[in-house]
Amino acid sequence: MRVLVTGGAGFIGANFVLRTLEIRPDASITVLDKFTYAANPSTLTPVADRVHVVRGDIADAAVVDPLVAAADVVVNFAAESHNDNSLADPSSFVQTNLVGTYTLLESVRRHGVRLHHVSTDEVYGDLDLDDPARFTEETAYNPSSPYSSTKAGSDLLVRAWVRSFGVVATISNCSNNYGPYQHVEKFIPRQITNVLTGIRPKLYGDGRNVRDWIHVDDHNDAVWTIIERGQPGETYLIGADGEVDNRTVVESILESLGRPRNAFDFVTDRPGHDRRYAIDSTRLRTELGWSPRFTDFASGLAATIDWYRSHSDWWAPVKDGVEASYAQTQNILDREGS
Ligand code: NAD
Ligand code: TYD
Repeated sequence: MRVLVTGGAGFIGANFVLRTLEIRPDASITVLDKFTYAANPSTLTPVADRVHVVRGDIADAAVVDPLVAAADVVVNFAAESHNDNSLADPSSFVQTNLVGTYTLLESVRRHGVRLHHVSTDEVYGDLDLDDPARFTEETAYNPSSPYSSTKAGSDLLVRAWVRSFGVVATISNCSNNYGPYQHVEKFIPRQITNVLTGIRPKLYGDGRNVRDWIHVDDHNDAVWTIIERGQPGETYLIGADGEVDNRTVVESILESLGRPRNAFDFVTDRPGHDRRYAIDSTRLRTELGWSPRFTDFASGLAATIDWYRSHSDWWAPVKDGVEASYAQTQNILDREGS
């Protein structure tokens, strides 16, 4: 199978490429990635002789078209993916998540190529902490941020191209991922690398916000399950029953690294901060037979901490810049709040 992986140099896409080489060695992989700040070129260096890497923009039809024409399936991971960045400057989110997805859709339509579109549970908005409900495929879209609204828009474009033009596509909406090769701007790697570099972890607001954590390999195995067994035109939610509040995550990281559990700071909350996400993945499990392998978040987190401890060469070059940018954002939020 010839697989075009867009965004294949980012966190989830690169893990998808590495895992595919392991579990489907016959697949021929091309990566199309713009190599924004979020991509780390070194992630794919060890497999450079087994993957064709193209540097380019999913919103550039001239680049996209010949690559799509030469593929059996396109798996779209390419996106601007960080909520905090979307609050500081939404423009690249509109461009990549909406115009980029539109460009891919027009190309798969032209060439009759199958698309799997990777999306997020954040399109559904948030839940109260005490709400017994979880998101299902039937939950109405209600996104909160420029990030989640542009992802929601991209999903709706895919649905429209399926219905109006007969494009063969599936969509998955997954919960928060953790694992190796995640950019240190994101919550878990940020706090691990904070502790490793002598900075106190930073919790937004009261630290009680809940995320539904899933290991990145479980997400990618689910993506393969949907590519192989999913019904064209359908949406599948991916989750591993991993609800944990942010404070508990930070305390676990501190404890694992031999620091007092209370050695963190509360900082000014993210504007519009979603309270809780929770996925009901019954459909994926019962209809397609997928189930997660990493069912114990504590041991998955411990393995992730070990990975960051032994791969400082991968993240250290960008750590100071990320923290400087967070400090600037916090200054602005503090000024606005006072
Ligand atoms: P990431 O930011 O780590 O990686 C995104 C990749 O896309 C980067 O390599 C970047 O260079 C590339 N990219 C950005 N704009 C591009 C463009 N215009 N053209 C080509 N490439 C471009 O993101 P991630 O965490 O790996 O997320 C991948 C996908 O999974 C996203 O669609 C995201 O919405 C979705 N998702 C992420 C999570 C999560 O917890 N991280 C959870 C559910 C769904
Ligand atoms: P994040 O990794 O940005 O993912 P998302 O916003 O897509 O869920 O954040 C995960 C949670 O952690 C979210 O509730 C915001 C919170 N958070 C902090 O408390 N401190 C931080 O430094 C960061 C980056 C996030």
